[in-house]
Amino acid sequence: MTLSTPARVATSLFEASFSSHPAAGASAPGRVNLLGEHTDYNGGPVLPLALERRTAVVVGRASRWEAVSTLDTQVRDLDPEGPMCQGWTDYLAGVVRVLQRRGAAPRGARVAVASNLPVGAGLSSSASLTVAAAKALSLLAGHRLDATELADIAFLAEHDEVGVHCGRMDQTIGALARPGTVLLYEAGDGSIRLLPLAAKVWLLETGVSHRLSGGALNARRRECQEALALCRDRGLLIRHLAEVDPALLPAVLGMLPPPLVSRVRHVVMETARVRSAVEALLRKDLPALGALLLKGHASLRHDYESSCIEADVLVDSAAARGAYGARLTGAGWGGAVVMLAPVEREARIIAEIQEDFRRAFGRIPTIWSSRPSKGARWENVAPRPQAP
Ligand code: GLA
Repeated sequence: MTLSTPARVATSLFEASFSSHPAAGASAPGRVNLLGEHTDYNGGPVLPLALERRTAVVVGRASRWEAVSTLDTQVRDLDPEGPMCQGWTDYLAGVVRVLQRRGAAPRGARVAVASNLPVGAGLSSSASLTVAAAKALSLLAGHRLDATELADIAFLAEHDEVGVHCGRMDQTIGALARPGTVLLYEAGDGSIRLLPLAAKVWLLETGVSHRLSGGALNARRRECQEALALCRDRGLLIRHLAEVDPALLPAVLGMLPPPLVSRVRHVVMETARVRSAVEALLRKDLPALGALLLKGHASLRHDYESSCIEADVLVDSAAARGAYGARLTGAGWGGAVVMLAPVEREARIIAEIQEDFRRAFGRIPTIWSSRPSKGARWENVAPRPQAP
């Protein structure tokens, strides 16, 4: 298998930084969530797909821990036992800690990272890093972990060690994705199903970093937990908010104070939208899927209050210019909009959206496309034999 571009870049960075060749490597994709936002940590379904853009992690044996990335060309010492220091190496330290607990970590390592994913765009650059790092570092310690174990280790690294109270969607798609498919992941019971998607998706970057969204995401999680506790206190037999039957929603909302009313309405209706989206995917009905995306965005904007003005302008413009649909994807409060558009009109639609955005904000947004791609893979970074 040929090396991915990030793996080639990471290998060169490793050689330049450590004057040696890496012994192992792996890469994992970023993801875009088509629909099902803020449902995973409420026990509901999500519909992510893997992007063609990925993060590569190449590693070499060492007695201590050192790491370098193309975004931060300084070689950093890593202390997996030390406190988290709020930088990108926390994610690596988190992975090392979880691997150590499972007896699958090397004693130390040199690590080089390269990615062609935008950081802070809500496209899961952090999960692509943790999944790829778990795969590469465990191999260095002589362990071949399966995709489910990888997803679990990457999730625990980000959730328990770094302390971002994310759900399991990003790590699951990063480890398990297959080309040409969307993954239906039921966070309530962990089941998965692959659904075909032949279309490409468009990514419209708001240019607003969602870097600070960790605190907001944690706050929304607390609200959801509070709402669940209130529902259960009032006799509702549910384990997760996503289990509320939409037919019972008016009665359930009547039990809750604001802003929990709108948070729960989002979770329950978003869950129902994902069910409809699965049907639309099976029918290959892109207009119906697009309409669900637009409803999903309205719910993020008004009920979950996790959108931003730049995303609202992009989505409104996409709808007005003839896309099937669009919505803010990922945690929110910045990041990127995902859009589905008819192929024969896509060039015109994109030019018009860029112009609408420029008129509103005085800058042109970055727009690119991807087809559903593959999950974590090995990168064969062993040095090539010299020609005689
Ligand atoms: C972040 C989390 C995911 C999910 C989304 C919101 O990306 O990492 O698990 O909760 O937010 O849908």
